[in-house]
Amino acid sequence: MANQHLKIGIILGSTRQGRVSPQVGDWIKKLADGRGDAEYEVVDISAYQLPFFGEGTGQEPGLAAWQAKVESLDGFVFIVQEYNHSITGALKNALDSARDPWNNKAAGIVSYGSTGGARAAEHLRGILGELLVADVRAHPTLSLFTDFENFSVFKPAGLHQTNVHAMLDQVIAWSGALKTLR
Ligand SMILES: Cc1cc2nc3c(=O)[nH]c(=O)nc-3n(C[C@H](O)[C@H](O)[C@H](O)COP(=O)(O)O)c2cc1C
Repeated sequence: MANQHLKIGIILGSTRQGRVSPQVGDWIKKLADGRGDAEYEVVDISAYQLPFFGEGTGQEPGLAAWQAKVESLDGFVFIVQEYNHSITGALKNALDSARDPWNNKAAGIVSYGSTGGARAAEHLRGILGELLVADVRAHPTLSLFTDFENFSVFKPAGLHQTNVHAMLDQVIAWSGALKTLR
């Protein structure tokens, strides 16, 4: 398959203790792996222990590792949770902590919150534009009320799967196309 070697990172946008994003990321990874159209991996921002942008020495090993990880990927699926009508500070810092490695790649968004994380997702789209990341239209939105039990155990409604595959179709198509540009 032409896209066999595309590498797509499923980026967990939250880092707090007790976060639900790993459950959502694992669900996306399972659905994505079933497609056999690319190499998918979950990328956890918290593993890199990034300093706040500009506050560290710039020599932190996690910072170089983070930039290398972003560089190694052809496309992204952002797992986005709504915090005060926007994305988390951790995700914004991770986006700020690399620049060129984001450029000319594609991304999909899977969001959650009381209104499906829609406001956070729209903020992220603006940021991605500045980083030259092409964000696709299909956008699975998960409800904290109906897709999570007690706001903590992820039990997604079956209907979301169609939308996840539509989003991945677009991410794969654009990631492959933009790879030729790089
Ligand atoms: C600081 C904070 C602010 C939040 N603000 C919003 C909000 O504006 N809108 C919303 O729908 N949910 C809001 N929530 C609920 C989160 O979307 C919910 O707790 C979600 O599980 C957070 O993702 P995480 O578990 O991966 O950290 C907020 C949660 C926190 C901790």
